[in-house]
Amino acid sequence: MPRRKGTVIHKLPRCDEPRLEQFPYDHKIEFRKLLGQDREQGGVIAGHGYVFSVLIDSKPFALKMFKFYDTSDGRDPLTDDENRQVSDEIVEAHCDSFYAECRAYGRIKEKKCKRLLAVPCYGFLHVAAEEEERLYELFQVEDWNRQPDEHRQKPSDRSPFRALVKQLVEDDPPLNPRRMLAELRQLKKIGVHPMDVCMRNYKGGYLVDFSIAWTMPYFMTRFLSQRQLDSRLRRDLIDFDDLVKESGVRTKVRAATEPIIVRASETTGRITSNTDDIPKLRPRK
Ligand SMILES: Nc1ncnc2c1ncn2[C@@H]1O[C@H](COP(=O)(O)OP(=O)(O)OP(=O)(O)O)[C@@H](O)[C@H]1O
Ligand SMILES: [Mg+2]
Repeated sequence: MPRRKGTVIHKLPRCDEPRLEQFPYDHKIEFRKLLGQDREQGGVIAGHGYVFSVLIDSKPFALKMFKFYDTSDGRDPLTDDENRQVSDEIVEAHCDSFYAECRAYGRIKEKKCKRLLAVPCYGFLHVAAEEEERLYELFQVEDWNRQPDEHRQKPSDRSPFRALVKQLVEDDPPLNPRRMLAELRQLKKIGVHPMDVCMRNYKGGYLVDFSIAWTMPYFMTRFLSQRQLDSRLRRDLIDFDDLVKESGVRTKVRAATEPIIVRASETTGRITSNTDDIPKLRPRK
């Protein structure tokens, strides 16, 4: 993207690599539509934030605005000992969904792969807190997970929203499992493990959501045995196979080549499999 003369470029997260650059435009944002909402469910469903179709300086983009993050959410799954070994800055940089996406897209950009590995992201920007009221009036979005004391402050004193600017994808062509799997494998090869491979996180046949991705180096890995780590990282492949199965597309393409082995313990009768020794770690929403 061309950069305007004199623009100061910042990168996030500050404390850790990889980082993503700021979106390089003077921006006037016009909100047009709230995306990804299932009308039949009624009411607005918030995931890690909200995605809007917007015009920035009159050009169309998708703007993903993230909820605010509480470091204790990232610390909850850790033991006391593990918590002592990791700083708040790293927990935040790796677990906050905004920073998790910055790191994933930062890595994708730094590797300059020939193949498109995800829906393109053009950088981050901040949206003034004053927009909160307008977004509620326009789209009834209200759950931003702000710190309770911020609600007592006047809007101009509150933290601005963190957002990512992405290509707006408006069509959903038929799935191409072979290409999608090649991209997923390439992503994992460069150290980006999406950890949330499912249909709603693909747009136009490309991954669009890295809110809970593990981008290496990732702090959790030092607390896992090699077997636990392999099993955790393999889940993307199992989820990919489930996605293809659910889509109904007929294909021989399979991601998880290793068979799933189910065992019953002779003493306790407990059923376990080689895919479930690590629970799916999802930050609380
Ligand atoms: N670039 C884009 N172009 C068009 N639609 C998009 C784009 N990015 C996201 N969407 C739509 O918005 C939805 C939510 O996006 P995304 O998965 O990134 O957000 P999320 O808050 O992390 O969601 P969740 O936590 O529910 O998975 C997607 O399922 C998709 O329908
Ligand atoms: Mg999603």
